[in-house]
Amino acid sequence: MRKPVIAGNWKMYKHPAEAAGFLHDLAPLVDASSQVDIVVCPPFVDVAAAVDAARGTNIAIGAQDLFWLKEGAYTGEVSAPMLVAAGCGWVIIGHSERRQYFGETDDSVFKKTVAALDAGLTPIVCVGERLEEREAGMTENVLATQFAGGLSGLTPEQFAHVVIAYEPVWAIGTGRTATPEMAGQAHHFLREQIAVRFGDDASQTTRILYGGSVKPDNIKGLMAQEDLDGALVGGASLDPVSFAAIVNF
Ligand code: 13P
Repeated sequence: MRKPVIAGNWKMYKHPAEAAGFLHDLAPLVDASSQVDIVVCPPFVDVAAAVDAARGTNIAIGAQDLFWLKEGAYTGEVSAPMLVAAGCGWVIIGHSERRQYFGETDDSVFKKTVAALDAGLTPIVCVGERLEEREAGMTENVLATQFAGGLSGLTPEQFAHVVIAYEPVWAIGTGRTATPEMAGQAHHFLREQIAVRFGDDASQTTRILYGGSVKPDNIKGLMAQEDLDGALVGGASLDPVSFAAIVNF
């Protein structure tokens, strides 16, 4: 059995005080849901306040990115051991916005994933096609390339701790969700890639989340897909009531 994960990606929203307020509001709304891993990923500057506010709850805190070296002269960067020391247990890697605006590549995704695993963080590694790629019938080629470049170089022991998020870029922030069937197909294809590289067991145990305009009213239909193990939620994770409704799907 794969334990579902509902993770919120706040992107560049909320100040530290707002993060603390959000967690105080969210905690009582989700305290009965022990069957789901609940993760909130605020901006770096909010991590300390979020970790503090989430102490004693069933909510874990994650970051939205990291740099793959432990320390050094890398102005503006944050390392995996720093995130662990700050209280993070999770980290999003390779989000399409980082690929689009900040030069993230499959190679950097791989290095960051290794760094996260070395430090004991659970990486949520994002893959997904752009609209023109889907329209050109290239979805599976894109997913195969991102999987090969970002994940297939891991050892089976490392891969066992990875969570994958399938986020079709055209569904992010657009209100245009993939249908449950479209998501299910992509998740199934990713499981096949995992089976080829890491074996059937890994293929059956790896958690694959869907992301892209997930809302309280579409989470149930998505979760009914056999190969779908949870969600990476953007916009709807900014409000404690709507995020709780997704957690309690
Ligand atoms: P939205 O839920 O706002 O579409 O964002 C999805 C996303 O990018 C989560 O990482």
